[in-house]
Amino acid sequence: MNIFITGGNRGIGLEFVKQFVSKGNTIFASYRNPNGISELESIKATYPNNLHLISLEVSNPESVQNCYNIISSQISKLDLLINCAGIISGGSQRNYPLGTMAAEDIQRVFSVNAISPLRICEQFLPLLEKSDMPRIINISSKMGSIGLKKVTGNYSYCASKSALNMFSKMMAIDLQDKNITVLTFHPGWVRTDMGGQNAEISPSESISGMITAIFSHTLEDSGKFLDWNGKELPW
Ligand SMILES: NC(=O)c1ccc[n+]([C@@H]2O[C@H](COP(=O)([O-])OP(=O)(O)OC[C@H]3O[C@@H](n4cnc5c(N)ncnc54)[C@H](OP(=O)(O)O)[C@@H]3O)[C@@H](O)[C@H]2O)c1
Repeated sequence: MNIFITGGNRGIGLEFVKQFVSKGNTIFASYRNPNGISELESIKATYPNNLHLISLEVSNPESVQNCYNIISSQISKLDLLINCAGIISGGSQRNYPLGTMAAEDIQRVFSVNAISPLRICEQFLPLLEKSDMPRIINISSKMGSIGLKKVTGNYSYCASKSALNMFSKMMAIDLQDKNITVLTFHPGWVRTDMGGQNAEISPSESISGMITAIFSHTLEDSGKFLDWNGKELPW
């Protein structure tokens, strides 16, 4: 399979790269900061023909176009697109409760977490359409679930993921006729830079669970919002 993973240099994206490349797939992994790719480079040393590293700033349309041009010059079809890159508000203050939030922060987080995955999906449709069984996986968060919302806090992050959820659901409807399955995942609370070291599960557990769930769902399930272990979540 040909797989493209955004935010592949750290955390959840990096673990997707590790697990998929070790199974013999061809992986295109994007990174933003060339100084933060030492782990990716060491994986590439083991799988030089199967792992390709590509610079991408997801919120920059030119960068997305450039990334598409590079990938489409190397493969004729894309089987799996994983939109994983994301941010949780800015600076050291992660929580922007009512009364302290900044519009600029909301715009930046929306741009990276919601608008960028939509743009990347649109850009990569021509390659996805050439696959026999194309899939789009959007990595969202339970924090974006309106149905599960019990505690408040981080307005920008939560609402950006709600927007991503809506984009995913709408794409699932629009892309049904093109046989493209769109699934939205909460990866769990995962031990990464974003999740912190007190998080509940390891990247390995999260990604193993999501990979099993990705391939146990078909076009009929397109549009579902799933927990990392495949359990359906309320929007
Ligand atoms: N960890 C959790 O508990 C948890 C829970 C729910 C949902 N999620 C979601 O899972 C996804 C991955 O999270 P994580 O825990 O792996 O986070 P992480 O460790 O902070 O990694 C974030 C990744 O996204 C990339 N990224 C951020 N902004 C970008 C941009 N503008 N352009 C390109 N790449 C960008 C980062 O690249 P750089 O290295 O260049 O910064 C990095 O590769 C996110 O969408 C997050 O919201 C995580």
